[in-house]
Amino acid sequence: MRVLGIETSCDETGVAIYDTKQGLLGDVLYSQVAMHAEYGGIVPELASRDHIKRLIPLIKEVLILAKTEQRQIDAIAFTAGPGLIGALMVGAATARAIAFAWDIPAMAVHHMEGHLLAPMLEDNPPAFPFVALLVSGGHTQLMEVKAIGEYQLLGESLDDAAGEAFDKAAKMLGLDYPGGPLIAKLALSGDRTRFRFPRPMVDRPGMDMSFSGLKTFTLNTVNKFKQEGTLDQQTKADIAAAFEEAVVDTLAIKCRRALQHTHFKQLVIAGGVSANKRLREKLQVMVEKERVTLFYARHEFCTDNGAMIAYAGAQRLAAGQSSDLTILAKPRWPMSELPPLS
Ligand code: KG4
Ligand code: ZN
Repeated sequence: MRVLGIETSCDETGVAIYDTKQGLLGDVLYSQVAMHAEYGGIVPELASRDHIKRLIPLIKEVLILAKTEQRQIDAIAFTAGPGLIGALMVGAATARAIAFAWDIPAMAVHHMEGHLLAPMLEDNPPAFPFVALLVSGGHTQLMEVKAIGEYQLLGESLDDAAGEAFDKAAKMLGLDYPGGPLIAKLALSGDRTRFRFPRPMVDRPGMDMSFSGLKTFTLNTVNKFKQEGTLDQQTKADIAAAFEEAVVDTLAIKCRRALQHTHFKQLVIAGGVSANKRLREKLQVMVEKERVTLFYARHEFCTDNGAMIAYAGAQRLAAGQSSDLTILAKPRWPMSELPPLS
């Protein structure tokens, strides 16, 4: 089965073709980052308009790249949520219209299920069951994953998502959006021992997390140096490093708890923040002690992309599932509402 995948939930237009026998045949992406940078964050209306402009040319491009004729596409997978409503509507309406015109089924895909399954696109993929840490701009969740669609939430952030915390801390330090990669880069020249930022909620049992206190702590630290007139480049780098250490340590502690709780031997990390090198390093050290294997997707499949949507949709379509003709766009959509595969 050959599936065309469409992702438009936020500020990236991603399109890919996945074949259940041959694997990923093509993947193209247009990022709106430069357009939104001017405003210091995503402007939803601009995002929707840009998806309209980019989507059809990208679909044409990926068909050529994947050496695929229109008649060889068996089904379409599109992100139906969660995300920005206008942005989702562009992908959903386009996917639905094309599926109708080509007389093929379409599948509404959950964006976070796409992220969760992205490591399956790599060589040596994880096998079920596993613990998953989903860390993106909008979500921070620890999940017990028994199979596709069999997800049990173990813990989540009670306030800001980890990626959101990175973006806000970056703004405080005068960095652009999205701030995660820029904090990580700045932290490389920082002294990770100069400041010690709090590791929120690690002294409490359970696997829930919180990042808003850490955000306030970062702001107070930045303001203190600003008032003294001593917020130089080195201090900014030291703050970035202290912030990154605190987030990464917190995530590692909660992941260890999830592994000990489930006794699972595999940990999957997915979503934009899973691209973070320091997170990968720290988790690698932790999993070796726990005799667990760590899995993540290649860098470009950690952040939003069409390949993960094509893949996730293909799994459900191949199992006989498909969505009705509704143009489905759900800004909020708990993963627990997803059905199992069969
Ligand atoms: O998964 P994603 O592309 O979009 C959402 O579904 O939200 O995640 C975007 C988030 C942003 O908050 C971005 O700052 C963060 O992932 N991010 C990172 C890194 N790369 C992206 N955070 C920390 N370190 C990185 N290297
Ligand atoms: Zn995402």
